[in-house]
Amino acid sequence: MLEVVNVNKIYGKKDKAFNALSDITLSFEKGTSNAIVGKSGSGKSTLLHILIGLDHPTNGSVLYDGKNILKDMNTDSWRGKNVGIVFQQFFLQPNDSVIDNVGLPLKLQGIAKKKRNIKAAEALKKVGLEDRMKSKANDLSGGQKQRVAIARALVDNPSILIADEPTGNLDTENGDAIENLLFELQKKLGTTLVIVTHDTDLAKRCERVIYLKDGKVEKDTYKGKK
Ligand SMILES: Nc1ncnc2c1ncn2[C@@H]1O[C@H](COP(=O)(O)OP(=O)(O)OP(=O)(O)O)[C@@H](O)[C@H]1O
Ligand SMILES: [Mg+2]
Repeated sequence: MLEVVNVNKIYGKKDKAFNALSDITLSFEKGTSNAIVGKSGSGKSTLLHILIGLDHPTNGSVLYDGKNILKDMNTDSWRGKNVGIVFQQFFLQPNDSVIDNVGLPLKLQGIAKKKRNIKAAEALKKVGLEDRMKSKANDLSGGQKQRVAIARALVDNPSILIADEPTGNLDTENGDAIENLLFELQKKLGTTLVIVTHDTDLAKRCERVIYLKDGKVEKDTYKGKK
């Protein structure tokens, strides 16, 4: 389980201080799908970054299975082992092959090429792109690039999959295909899914929807297992 407890985030100092998050306490149960919605500037990305230790809260703590991710462990290696991340911008290495892009998180962990390629090929199979392994990332369509980004996020079987506007740069058809894929993988692999989105239809497909307003939880609705 992943938890944020009494988290505040204040950007800037003194008269410039801005409360981006105020006293947020939330827990994300293993294997559930969660959407975080709210207007632009409501604090969604800030919360997501804090949740996976990419940013520090001003106060409060973030716990993974009861352990503080910033104090009790090496945050980067925890994230590397447990978290897959998909952003609106795909952040692929444009001139590298698809398989090298997917294997990159493993390379950063010092895993040898042969083993990386086996795992990357498995992940590409899950997103239906095994036939494009050798293509240059830049030669793929937007929807295919996002599938590569998802394969890269899943390559080391993370327990948590984080997505910030994963369909934001895609047309409806490709966006729907990516959504279906995210939920299919979440169900099949038992991954905890946390998605930030403006898209109300996407949010409604999650078991739980958390509404943020001005850095506070305005509403938290749980529909139960789908
Ligand atoms: N580094 C920063 N310094 C100062 N203020 C910041 C910083 N990062 C974010 N903010 C402010 O904190 C608030 C929350 O930002 P955040 O990026 O979390 O919003 P968001 O809900 O993700 O919005 P969007 O839907 O536009 O992505 C905003 O008012 C933003 O201007
Ligand atoms: Mg954002």
